[in-house]
Amino acid sequence: MALLTTHTIAELRRRIQRWRDVQQKIALVPTMGNLHKGHIELVNRAHELADRVVVSIFVNPLQFGPDEDYPGYPRTLEADQVQLAVAGTDILFVPDAKEMYPTGTENIAKVEIAGLSEILDGAYRPGHFIGVATVVAKLLNIVRPDVALFGQKDYQQLAVIRRMVRDLCMPIEIVGMATVREADGLALSSRNQYLSKSQRAVAPLLYRTLRELVALLRTGERDFTRLEREAVQKLTAGGMRPDYVCIRMAGSLAQPDVNTTRFVVLAAAWLGKARLIDNLEVDILTQADQTQRLRPARAPE
Ligand code: PAJ
Repeated sequence: MALLTTHTIAELRRRIQRWRDVQQKIALVPTMGNLHKGHIELVNRAHELADRVVVSIFVNPLQFGPDEDYPGYPRTLEADQVQLAVAGTDILFVPDAKEMYPTGTENIAKVEIAGLSEILDGAYRPGHFIGVATVVAKLLNIVRPDVALFGQKDYQQLAVIRRMVRDLCMPIEIVGMATVREADGLALSSRNQYLSKSQRAVAPLLYRTLRELVALLRTGERDFTRLEREAVQKLTAGGMRPDYVCIRMAGSLAQPDVNTTRFVVLAAAWLGKARLIDNLEVDILTQADQTQRLRPARAPE
């Protein structure tokens, strides 16, 4: 199966225009490559939602900090092309940094989502979400898809992109897809390959800790600060170096209160040279018993 790969914006636009001319619906799946089952689920869903699927692979320098893993980020284009050909992708867009940032990354327009870019992961990775939002805005403007798909694995990233699209009136549907996990719960990630065998055995602790937090929220625990602190201690005791564990309102990532019913628990932790992130959403009303349902009306979130 042949996969059409293009490296230039001009050629990509030419090809997409032909589809648009015949009213075909177009989906975009932006990635940084080194594709795994999580990415491929996005691509498969994209094929269900649209007539044509564009996948991009671009390791975006703007979203990496100076001491981060940009140089060593796994680049596996040939293997990625095979997977995408099997998935039936219509075009793979693989620009280089010069194509995406012809004038460099300093003095250019950047997209900041005030109140979201700088919290949680943004606090530990300054500028990261500005880099993400900027490159995604560019990709959306280049492809002009009807729909674009992103993973909930990167929960804050999805929130950033949803807000960008809303606030900048981009006429694009954003679809969030559930996190694909290994059998032991570890979320699939290109960065998992940085783990040694013994670290890999420890890694599912992140998911287990989030599961426990969800269970505690379901039992009615609402001392968020204590829950977060205890989860951090648990990760540390297990051999991880957590950046944070946070309980937030689902969707908005605002601080929760006693009336909150939809939460997301998010964590980032180092294990060796891998920085793992994960999150779980919980809606305490969905699996709720009668007593919870019969509580007086809550303030809207
Ligand atoms: P990357 O890490 O390659 O991820 C590409 C897409 O795959 C993202 O939407 C991400 O959330 C999703 N994804 C990753 N792991 C997943 C998993 N285990 N289950 C489901 N989806 C998963 O995220 C990026 O690239 C970049 O920041 C990008 C959006 C491309 C901008 O540069």
